Amino acid sequence: MSERPAPVRTRVSELLGIDYPIVQAPMGWIARSQLASAVSEAGGLGIIETSSGELDAVRREIGLMRSLTDKPFGVNIAQLFVRDPSIVEFVIEQGVRFVTTSAGDPTKYTAQLHEAGLTVFHVVPTLAAALKAVDAGVDGLVVEGGEGGGFKNPRDVATMVLLPLVASRVDVPIIAAGGIIDGASMAAAFALGAEGVQMGTRMVSSAESPVHTNWKDAIVGAAETDTVFLNRFSKPGLRALRTERSERLEREGHVGMTEFGTAMDLYFGGDMEASLALTGQVAGRIDAVRPVREIIETTVAEFRARAAALSTFVC
Ligand SMILES: Cc1cc2nc3c(=O)[nH]c(=O)nc-3n(C[C@H](O)[C@H](O)[C@H](O)COP(=O)(O)O)c2cc1C
Repeated sequence: MSERPAPVRTRVSELLGIDYPIVQAPMGWIARSQLASAVSEAGGLGIIETSSGELDAVRREIGLMRSLTDKPFGVNIAQLFVRDPSIVEFVIEQGVRFVTTSAGDPTKYTAQLHEAGLTVFHVVPTLAAALKAVDAGVDGLVVEGGEGGGFKNPRDVATMVLLPLVASRVDVPIIAAGGIIDGASMAAAFALGAEGVQMGTRMVSSAESPVHTNWKDAIVGAAETDTVFLNRFSKPGLRALRTERSERLEREGHVGMTEFGTAMDLYFGGDMEASLALTGQVAGRIDAVRPVREIIETTVAEFRARAAALSTFVC
């Protein structure tokens, strides 16, 4: 690629101290230093996961981040998976400045994280959750549409509906998640009220993602209809890649967390029927495995071109 695109200045990029308001999604076992440092080095924000529950590994990964980049990065506290309240002290002790909290109650940790000087964004799947998080004093929201990969509210709402709805009711900065992979989707998110975007599925399929090639290839080969929504009538809802196993589970109804007991065989062993490959609908728009820097720089350049093209309609 030629020259790096100029920074995109929004409240999100200012708060996080990054050039481009593009955040890599937290993802159990995947959002570790190899991927997160590539994102931070490219001018976005890498995030280290805790949803694996492997806090010793997480500590090591945060240490590795410091040797791989001097740029900002964040940590996600996925409350459903890490219920131990000492997780907050743990994250504070690591010297992290930015946290996203998800899958839980925003009133639980926000005050304590603020007292320690951290910036806190809470992930929300509905307007009610967004208003509750704002009441709890969060600095911003990650507004996550149901087309995204991973754990979901069983009453899923698409980004196109949720994002402008939340944006019309809150003043805090918003990072949009769910369906975002490029400059067109980033421009759309900004038009709907976001000041930053988060990419999950796009980052799973990136060159620096540690997952097995079979998962990346399955994303590249997927159509937009190739994900399933599991646990529609129980919790937690899940969006995963369509495989024989996930299709069968979709019909059966309830999927327990034991499904993830064999996740490593899929994530890193490449056996796509061993567990569930959490993936969003936007897999249908991903046509190649690309390096993180290329993803970020192309996204920013396209974002600018799209925004400029849109402005011609109003002149
Ligand atoms: C493999 C995978 C694992 C995920 N794990 C988490 C997690 O641990 N914590 C969290 O807040 N979100 C998690 N998510 C949701 C992402 O943070 C993100 O919001 C979502 O992927 C965005 O939609 P997209 O996949 O269309 O980009 C996960 C998503 C994927 C694909």
